[in-house]
Amino acid sequence: MVLGDCNPDVLVLGSDVTPAFGQQEKLVEGISLVIGGSAAITAVAAARLGLRVCLVAAVGADPAGRFMLDQLAGSGVDVSAVVIRDDLPTGMTVAMSSGADRAILTALGAMASLTAADVPGFLLARARHVHASSYFLLSESLGPGLASLFTAARAAGATTSLDTNWDPTGRWGGVRLSAAIAQTDVLLPNEAEALALSRESSLDGAVGVLTAAGRGLVGRRLVIKLGERGALCCDGPVRHHVSLPPVTPADATGAGDCFNAGLIAGLLNGLTLPEAAALGCATGALSVGAPGGTAAAPDLTAATKLAQRASIVLFTENGGGLTLCVQRHPPRQRTARWRGNSMLLGN
Ligand SMILES: Nc1ncnc2c1ncn2[C@@H]1O[C@H](COP(=O)(O)OP(=O)(O)OP(=O)(O)O)[C@@H](O)[C@H]1O
Ligand SMILES: [Mg+2]
Repeated sequence: MVLGDCNPDVLVLGSDVTPAFGQQEKLVEGISLVIGGSAAITAVAAARLGLRVCLVAAVGADPAGRFMLDQLAGSGVDVSAVVIRDDLPTGMTVAMSSGADRAILTALGAMASLTAADVPGFLLARARHVHASSYFLLSESLGPGLASLFTAARAAGATTSLDTNWDPTGRWGGVRLSAAIAQTDVLLPNEAEALALSRESSLDGAVGVLTAAGRGLVGRRLVIKLGERGALCCDGPVRHHVSLPPVTPADATGAGDCFNAGLIAGLLNGLTLPEAAALGCATGALSVGAPGGTAAAPDLTAATKLAQRASIVLFTENGGGLTLCVQRHPPRQRTARWRGNSMLLGN
């Protein structure tokens, strides 16, 4: 089950997509209407990986909402629990993308009306895993009930994961978020979000805060997405850096959401956390090959084939702050250590 944001993305692609005010018209390479919203993208990517997925989200009774329902259903996602609000427009995003980087404008509309009460109890009881996306976009609606929802899901035997994504308000959490994270089995921020959530300036500082007991932000397991550098998995004191060769993105929209789908699929298929992260890295890396969040999301065969090429490096604490590593897969010895924000990998 995936909970969260669901909206069309108007995707503006080109080498120069910066708008020029003063009523100037600029030509760009392409503009398309695609599936957007982190939760919706994760749901589609998970369905493509072979999972049975239902999305719980809110849209308006308008063409944008119908577009999303049609696209999701056509992608194999169960949309029976998507709520249609008569009094609110479907949320919408305009993303101006130059490939690796992008600027995003979002109107929340109905998506920010989703509450925990909208989640059907019978679906929650059947779920093997519950993933919530874009916490901060829904913090006033879903936020108050998310901790209880995750608690109920776990009591019924499911695991949980949370990708907060970016906080446009810049507040980065509070008591409600901490309560939700306390019921989260895997916390899935990207690097910038990990720094902001932890209020730290370095990645190792962020890992320290986000994995430290008693700090209110303790996800049981933490996976930090590092863009083309892969992902860092933290399971208690054990850390793995998982990576694949970087690719030049056609459009990086949704890479993190596809990563989440790959990681969840891996965990539900019985992989270890780093192996599941390798499947996440493969799903993310393949997803950036075409514009839009879901167009290039791979099936399980393609994702697994690429995941088998992932480098998985185990770190163990080495007393004085530096860390020692063992190359797990492929079996080539490498050394690695932390410096400031970056992990240095040697041959
Ligand atoms: N250029 C790339 N080459 C290879 N892999 C990539 C590339 N970009 C992203 N990935 C893979 O996708 C994963 C998720 O990407 P990223 O770190 O950008 O997440 P994110 O910032 O959460 O994305 P989103 O913008 O969708 O929220 C990375 O951890 C990596 O495994
Ligand atoms: Mg993200």
